[in-house]
Amino acid sequence: MSAETSALMVAETFTLMLAGAAPSAGFAVAGPGVVGHISVVLEPYGVADIGMLVTEGWRGKGVGTALLEAAIAWARAAGAHKLALEAWPDNTPALQLYRKAGFVEEGRKVRHYRRSNGELWDSVLMGLRLD
Ligand SMILES: CC(C)(COP(=O)(O)OP(=O)(O)OC[C@H]1O[C@@H](n2cnc3c(N)ncnc32)[C@H](O)[C@@H]1OP(=O)(O)O)[C@@H](O)C(=O)NCCC(=O)NCCS
Repeated sequence: MSAETSALMVAETFTLMLAGAAPSAGFAVAGPGVVGHISVVLEPYGVADIGMLVTEGWRGKGVGTALLEAAIAWARAAGAHKLALEAWPDNTPALQLYRKAGFVEEGRKVRHYRRSNGELWDSVLMGLRLD
């Protein structure tokens, strides 16, 4: 993290281990309010799905990396054999963040999602094996 964010801590915001529900957790970084959050859900087949966001103005300072590391550690401890996610093909910051953490591109959902402008977009499927 940069000097600006080095004092910030990643804190666990919730862990759900309810009977019948997928184990899941959330982590956040606090600055002036929450400046980043990641959620991780362990599916019954052993894959942990993640979704994350860092507030504009706080990006590029290591917050996303810290959140991702916390989610990977949680997934490993929870017994996941893999993490998985989807990203838009033009989301270079996200794709680079995930590649740097060891995720690899496994394929695409082709012309799968209709965007608000009517266009059909691919999504990139990425995975990080823990086994
Ligand atoms: C993607 C996102 C979470 C990255 O978080 P972040 O805090 O900015 O990431 P970090 O500062 O930890 O950067 C880690 C790495 O990501 C990559 N990265 C980050 N911003 C980048 C940019 N603008 N362009 C290219 N690569 C970038 C770099 O590889 C960087 O490593 P480096 O600093 O050694 O070059 C953030 O940009 C975001 O919230 N975007 C909007 C929401 C979103 O896209 N969520 C993910 C949906 S799949």
